Amino acid sequence: MNVAVVGATGVVGETILTVLQERKVPVNRLGAFASRDRSAAVRFRDEALDVHATSLDALRDFDVVLFASGEDQSEAFGRALAQNSQIVIDNSSAFRMDADVPLIVPEVNAAAVRPEHRIFPVANCTAIVLVMALNPIKKAAGLRNVNVATYQAVSGAGRAGLEELAEGENAWKDDRPARPPAAFVAPIFRNVVPQIGSLDPLGDTGEEKKVVAETRKILELPKVRIAAMTVRVPVRYAHSEAVFVKTDEETSVDELARAFEKAPGLVYHREGIVTPLEVEGQDLVHVARLRSVEGSRRHFQLWVVGDQVRKGAATNAVQILQLLHDRGMVGVRV
Ligand SMILES: NC(=O)c1ccc[n+]([C@@H]2O[C@H](COP(=O)([O-])OP(=O)(O)OC[C@H]3O[C@@H](n4cnc5c(N)ncnc54)[C@H](OP(=O)(O)O)[C@@H]3O)[C@@H](O)[C@H]2O)c1
Repeated sequence: MNVAVVGATGVVGETILTVLQERKVPVNRLGAFASRDRSAAVRFRDEALDVHATSLDALRDFDVVLFASGEDQSEAFGRALAQNSQIVIDNSSAFRMDADVPLIVPEVNAAAVRPEHRIFPVANCTAIVLVMALNPIKKAAGLRNVNVATYQAVSGAGRAGLEELAEGENAWKDDRPARPPAAFVAPIFRNVVPQIGSLDPLGDTGEEKKVVAETRKILELPKVRIAAMTVRVPVRYAHSEAVFVKTDEETSVDELARAFEKAPGLVYHREGIVTPLEVEGQDLVHVARLRSVEGSRRHFQLWVVGDQVRKGAATNAVQILQLLHDRGMVGVRV
């Protein structure tokens, strides 16, 4: 199959190229696109590829177009490509909550893919890491309430986020004032920033609203009560989440531990802790510190860590592609 990656020079796009290669996805021709032309600017299977400016005409040639740029490019081209029977896998939030569009995390809701679907958004990275841990709990005992506080890596804001943390560190080492923050709403080096995205009149951020709405959609639990507090921390890769749940039915730490141990894509740590530094670069989501709240059989808390550039974006996108390819949906007219 012929595959295009829009945003191939970015943090997610470059990781998509790596994951396509690692997973030996049968790509005949790979087209790399970004905002402008550049020669030999990205690598795929040990080859330096030219990057091209993105246009609808250029994207028409491909069976699959993976978007890893911004909402604007996805909105400009996504529906037109899908109408042309091309598969669109989109890391932006442009289509995630559209009623006719599934929001697929393959380990959780692969069954939501239907043959007529052509647009496949990749959910918010924090929501993907969260649902990987919530789904085994949902299956074991149902979910009534979820509270989550996040500790999100700077690479969640792309290259600009990584550069802003590095610049803060360099300024501190050089004993000079850092440039004013741009990728984040406050300085991130030696700090913690409890606002990701803009605030709405009720005081929720854009990131928090995405986590709540998308988690409900993926888990097919429109009524589950979710409170999210999303926070940026000076970590380069991998989001961590402190999660507090109330189940529908009574259960136990042992039963939930067994559910986590059986869950695909998850590593459960019965003992000890897990940190983002260890999880960086991995496709697996890790769960640790599972315990009951004061002996309750319905209230539990846990610690979840996943690399949001890998499982939260690039890997999930490639897994969707593999799923569609296995089902014979690539290159098929609808
Ligand atoms: N970073 C994460 O952890 C993460 C997780 C989940 C989802 N996402 C989403 O994934 C997408 C990419 O994020 P990122 O973190 O990889 O950002 P990034 O590092 O800033 O990369 C952005 C990419 O978009 C390209 N681009 C910018 N303007 C463009 C245009 N007009 N036409 C075509 N391409 C254009 C850039 O190309 P140039 O080099 O030409 O500027 C670059 O390749 C975003 O929608 C983001 O919300 C990111």
